[in-house]
Amino acid sequence: MRAVDILSKKRDGLPLTEAEINWFVQTYTAGDLPDYQASALLMAICIRGMSREEIVHLTLAMAQSGETLHLRDILGGYAVDKHSSGGVGDKTTLVVLPLVASCGVAVAKMSGRGLGFSGGTLDKLESIRGYDVNLSTDRFEALAKQNGIVLSGQTRALAPADGKLYALRDVTATVPSLPLIASSIMSKKIAAGADGIVLDVKMGDGAFMSNLEDAHELARLMVDIGVDAGRDMIAVISDMNQPLGAAVGNALEVAEAIETMQGGGPADFREHCLEIARHMLRLAGQGEQWTDAAEVRALLEKNLNNGQALAKFRLLAEAQGADVRMIDDPSQLPQASMVETVDAKQAGYIAQVSALKIAQAAFDLGAGREKKGDPIDLAVGVQVHVNVGDQIEPGASLVTLHANDAQRLEQSRVLVQEAITVSESPVEPLPLFYDVIEGV
Ligand code: URA
Repeated sequence: MRAVDILSKKRDGLPLTEAEINWFVQTYTAGDLPDYQASALLMAICIRGMSREEIVHLTLAMAQSGETLHLRDILGGYAVDKHSSGGVGDKTTLVVLPLVASCGVAVAKMSGRGLGFSGGTLDKLESIRGYDVNLSTDRFEALAKQNGIVLSGQTRALAPADGKLYALRDVTATVPSLPLIASSIMSKKIAAGADGIVLDVKMGDGAFMSNLEDAHELARLMVDIGVDAGRDMIAVISDMNQPLGAAVGNALEVAEAIETMQGGGPADFREHCLEIARHMLRLAGQGEQWTDAAEVRALLEKNLNNGQALAKFRLLAEAQGADVRMIDDPSQLPQASMVETVDAKQAGYIAQVSALKIAQAAFDLGAGREKKGDPIDLAVGVQVHVNVGDQIEPGASLVTLHANDAQRLEQSRVLVQEAITVSESPVEPLPLFYDVIEGV
């Protein structure tokens, strides 16, 4: 097979065969195809698109480019996983994984790091001193069996084709492509080996998909890929026009997750976690258990309030080497040296809390990384005290900034003031969820 023939086919809008897609993925992963030819194909896919059949072939080729896990064998039963397409203040995994585990469903998940405006679960976990996110496959499996819960980074061996292609996309302006995003996410999920997958597709200015139509298309596509690969699938489309919960920044988000597992936490975040966990249990129940939404909801609320989910989180962290005194007393988590609150100057209704601008403010404070491997400041970030639709009086606290550098604090103050707009007339609150798409 010749790369130029595959390239010219896609350039002219013709569909690629399974054999051509497999050849491309295998040859590139093995290092036998130069970056310039791979980049040219990625750009042609970006412009010409792919059929559902091509996308499924691409996803499976990437999933099979390395090690594949069989969680059912490891966990001794149906395995359920979740994935978020990336958002601002999205610490859902920290709560949902222990919550589902507290209901007796074993969970073994691999998560990623933050990049750009989008936060990553691994960075958040690393704000708990000692938490080891680099588990070998053997250790990952052993902890899953022993505790019914494990949460670590993705091993290099899992879907290596995606690792290479994603890095290339990042520098060739080929990230925003539906077939490439869907195959990238789903290849990792399929290789990670769960039977059922709940996808949380974010929509809004702080997400990859900024409108409902695109988010819907991405969700539908990923559900279809999962179904074709033999998985049970549920995708929810959730709001990312304003941050999820109050905290944006690594240690701040861990503290908020702990607060939520103590029965408190922001109402929107709590509700989001309960819904994602409910869908995970519904899949795990396979139509025989956890079918009654109200009953499942009551069970989940009980385990958030009675400390059972928190106990699972503590067990998870302890098993992965963390200093659990930070969980027992979150004031021990990394703290910023400067804490400043920005207050409202006028009365009115909150019309906008731009997730993107809040993320940029957290980024400017040092909470995010521009490129892979950059250091981040775990202590810094933003706490947002208002949601769209809230009525406020002058002097009400809008946000609290946590900084370790006076100049960065200054910059982020300007950004959060731009992020929040106030209207004189009442504003409708934003919905938490827009849609649910199920695989059949
Ligand atoms: N997340 C991924 O893993 N891949 C993409 O392409 C986009 C978001």
